[in-house]
Amino acid sequence: MKVLVLGSGGREHALVWKLKQSESLRQIFCIPGNAGIADSAQTYQIALQDFKKISDFIIEKQINLTIVGPEQPLVEGIVDYLQSLKLAVFGPTKVAAQLEGSKVFAKNFMKKYRIPTARFEKFSEYEKALKFLKKYKDSRVVIKADGLAAGKGSIVCQNIAAAQTAIKEIMYDRIFAEAGDQVVVEEFMEGEEASLFVITDGKDYVVLSPAQDFKRALDGDLGKNTGGMGSYAPTPVLSQKLQDRAIKEVVEPVLAGLQSEGIEYRGVLYCGLMLTLDGPKVVEFNCRFGDPETQVVLPLLQSDLLGICQATSQQTLGNIKLKLAAQRAVCVVAASGGYPDAYEKGKVISGLDQLDPEIMVFHAGTVRQGSQYLTNGGRVLGVAAAAGDLRQALEAVYWNMRRIHFAGIYYRTDIAKRAI
Ligand code: AMP
Ligand code: GLY
Repeated sequence: MKVLVLGSGGREHALVWKLKQSESLRQIFCIPGNAGIADSAQTYQIALQDFKKISDFIIEKQINLTIVGPEQPLVEGIVDYLQSLKLAVFGPTKVAAQLEGSKVFAKNFMKKYRIPTARFEKFSEYEKALKFLKKYKDSRVVIKADGLAAGKGSIVCQNIAAAQTAIKEIMYDRIFAEAGDQVVVEEFMEGEEASLFVITDGKDYVVLSPAQDFKRALDGDLGKNTGGMGSYAPTPVLSQKLQDRAIKEVVEPVLAGLQSEGIEYRGVLYCGLMLTLDGPKVVEFNCRFGDPETQVVLPLLQSDLLGICQATSQQTLGNIKLKLAAQRAVCVVAASGGYPDAYEKGKVISGLDQLDPEIMVFHAGTVRQGSQYLTNGGRVLGVAAAAGDLRQALEAVYWNMRRIHFAGIYYRTDIAKRAI
């Protein structure tokens, strides 16, 4: 088979790495990719918004299956576009991707199908939202911009004054542009967070290892929100019992709800859960693999990923039984100094040839210059390892991380420590 992966992050590098283990893979392409991906796939610089150019490329190269990494093209309808040309693709359609693309859609959907989540109200008028907050009883509250805001659209507020500021910034100052046309004002939920990944073809589903990611920039969950500074899987926080409960109370009702709405969903359903005293509740849905969770979930997957993606696209997932390794995997992200705010690019990365053989390095923001890799983004690399226990995997990752250098490198030193 010839396969195309769309995207340029650590997630896509992990997808390419795993797909390359498939016996049925003949050739692999990536648009646009990064320097690490270019070492194992043919990369091409086409804008992900340019569906026409992408479909021309697929036809020209006779690609059998396209796998979409990031949410933006899914929410913009790339799957509908490729399907209309009879091209096989892994990912949900535009309507289905609204589960991630619109908080209002997702909350209304959960309300309709009685899926446990935080209580909420939605507003399209600034004054009405402010008025509602004046009478709000709890001190903590979460304000969410409706649309995609690069993972920054949810603001956890410690008091009502902060919530008023958040609403003003989103709806009046329009810091997230049209993503702030509507807001959701949501009850604050207390608990541990865990991510549950399900791949579904709309009828059947398979469950990957549950993971935890670390969103804040600094140790101790301090600093700003980022795309994710590290991850590990499986997380003991989501015990088998809790996972079974989440499948029964969240995953199955979502799939049944989608079916009864006539919405076909083929791809990853990523359930961000809060494990509250009342059980698992949904924080958010994503319609694609997580980044950096994919960098730990895929090393634990023993089954053939290409077979799973193909079965998803052909709606034959019911024939597949997943095999997961009885190991633990950890990924720590090396970031550019300053990230998630302004940072410099073009720093020489050294030490990658000094790493132990069991270490997996997933490139995110890198570019090649001659024989060197240079930094080219906020999240630069993910360093990952899988081992019999978490402590071993962590030691391997941090021991090797110390051998990697570039000007301004920083990473969290406490990824997964609490789980030991
Ligand atoms: P989201 O963009 O919805 O995934 O939210 C980003 C992060 O904000 C989540 O991972 C949580 O840490 C936090 N968060 C979102 N909604 C809530 C909530 N209702 N209660 C507590 N924390 C939340
Ligand atoms: N790691 C969070 C996400 O992929 O959205």
